[in-house]
Amino acid sequence: MTRSSQAQFDAHAEKYAASAVHRFGPSLPVLLKVADLKPDDLVLDVATGTGNTALVVAPHVAHATGIDVSPKMLDQARLRAAQEGVTNVSFQAGSAEQLPFADGSFTLVTSRHAPHHFRDVPAFLQEVHRVLRPGGRFVLADQITPRAELQDWVDFWQRTRDPSHARQRTVDEWRALTAAAGFRPAGEQIVPYRLEFGWWTQQSGCSADVVEALQAHARNADAAVREAMQLEFDAQGQIQAHHDPMLVARWDR
Ligand SMILES: C[S@@+](CC[C@H](N)C(=O)[O-])C[C@H]1O[C@@H](n2cnc3c(N)ncnc32)[C@H](O)[C@@H]1O
Repeated sequence: MTRSSQAQFDAHAEKYAASAVHRFGPSLPVLLKVADLKPDDLVLDVATGTGNTALVVAPHVAHATGIDVSPKMLDQARLRAAQEGVTNVSFQAGSAEQLPFADGSFTLVTSRHAPHHFRDVPAFLQEVHRVLRPGGRFVLADQITPRAELQDWVDFWQRTRDPSHARQRTVDEWRALTAAAGFRPAGEQIVPYRLEFGWWTQQSGCSADVVEALQAHARNADAAVREAMQLEFDAQGQIQAHHDPMLVARWDR
């Protein structure tokens, strides 16, 4: 089953806004460091969701714009901006694959925990390249598949839990995709995430049937998957947690 990101995230926007893992998760400070924020930066945060990245970036730059396909996620972002008194940020609806901005509008583009939902990553990267000024930076933070041979297991795992999941990539795929879009590498690092199974399934609104399908998928994982995804089981063989490595990387235009 697949589901649009708009439907999935509209349905779970309030829960997402309250999630400490998404709001304060360890990829964010690394992303901020790698981005090397400057006071005159004009920033675009693609798939901003509830504004977790845009709202932390904004106080350090001239202006931040957040774009997302989910109006309910954007409502939460605007609410948080008002509560926190952040005034140099704006949020608008739009798609990563068709950015509604003129060429060269931004000096920095960020996208965190989102491109694994995008249906057309090459189109997204072309758009990022187009809206960046020459010398501009693109900073990505996204979950990756540790090794290519685990791709099918990982995408089934993720899509069963969240039907708006499209595909998560290996580091090598990101290197090739960004090179094809005309970017130059400017540093990368892996940030580990440990995700509790109960929290993880509740966050996406999984039914009891979906939870059981995930338990079965975990039980059937071979030794290579168990090791690479660091699957943790209790004494009854029920999955307790898995690990999702996040790639935080910068490419320059
Ligand atoms: C897991 S959330 C990440 C939100 C935020 N970047 C963060 O760090 O918390 C993924 C977001 O991607 C958005 N999204 C998915 N596909 C999109 C697309 N093609 N264009 C724009 N936004 C998209 C969803 O609506 C959702 O808000």
